[in-house]
Amino acid sequence: MSFYRGRRLRQTAALRALVRETALHKENLIMPYFVVDTPDTNFRKPIASMPGQNQLSLQELEKQIGRYVELGLQGCLLFGIPAHKDETGSEGYTDHGIIQRACRMMKENWPGLLLITDVCMCEYTSHGHCGIIESNDVANAPTLEVLSRIALSHVWAGADVVAPSDMMDGRVAAIRETLDIQGFTQTPILSYAVKYASSFYGPFREAAESAPKFGDRKTYQMDPPNWREALREAEADVAEGADMLMVKPAGPYLDVLLRIREAFDLPLCAYQVSGEYSMLMAAIDNGWLNKDAAILEALVGIRRAGADFILSYFTEYLLENKLVR
Ligand code: PBG
Repeated sequence: MSFYRGRRLRQTAALRALVRETALHKENLIMPYFVVDTPDTNFRKPIASMPGQNQLSLQELEKQIGRYVELGLQGCLLFGIPAHKDETGSEGYTDHGIIQRACRMMKENWPGLLLITDVCMCEYTSHGHCGIIESNDVANAPTLEVLSRIALSHVWAGADVVAPSDMMDGRVAAIRETLDIQGFTQTPILSYAVKYASSFYGPFREAAESAPKFGDRKTYQMDPPNWREALREAEADVAEGADMLMVKPAGPYLDVLLRIREAFDLPLCAYQVSGEYSMLMAAIDNGWLNKDAAILEALVGIRRAGADFILSYFTEYLLENKLVR
């Protein structure tokens, strides 16, 4: 009797390593940080729904990044929490804003560390929406102007890559045009091209203090049951000049990730969002999952589905515990 003996190649660690199809390296991981505009230089506030994650003052961010650069950190994504919010999110684009100061600090200290900034308005607006409000909804055209100013202010301050996460139509084209006119033709745009209206952002909104004060984000973020629409969104962003695409969230949308991977040849990013982090941490802290194994399995699954690189709150943990090289 002859049959397929799959177990032959699983007998030893060396054989399994030899035939392993997907790897996770430190170069594939980007760590998100929340930096707060505060006079308290020692400010370091744990985020209750994301055990192990903190809001940090500029000075605490500097200490934190220094520590993880030593451990091999390759890149980070910055979110800012301003001192004051207003209707138009004006602290999002002032030159002395928290992100702009953070970018200058980062580039002075670690010019080689990849610095990505999230371009959005929800952390800066008093109403918590990702744009300018008109008649109880986010108005597309005026929002594009503000987003372009935000992106430009980040690049002026030293950001290597800008990542618009607002989901307005035409934002990639608007930002590209603004950057090009100002001479930043070489600055890449990482587009949150396929971003769903997901419940998994809940913990982030505590972390970034960015929950909408009325309504929800369903008029701009995508409807979770849709995948063909994801192809249209990605296609539009490619046509507008996106250099890299993102699918977000990651874990619950691996089918979408795979389809985007197959349809487009641009570098592809996945965001393992706050709720995915919190879910795993809750089970881990209860002793229901093996910590290292569960984290690595979730992340390698995202790579296997097609992500070139991953935004993950586990990045620091993996570096600290030498779980990636
Ligand atoms: C800003 C933004 C959000 C996230 C990244 N950028 C929240 C949202 O759209 O409400 C979510 C990240 C996470 O959950 O980890 N628009």
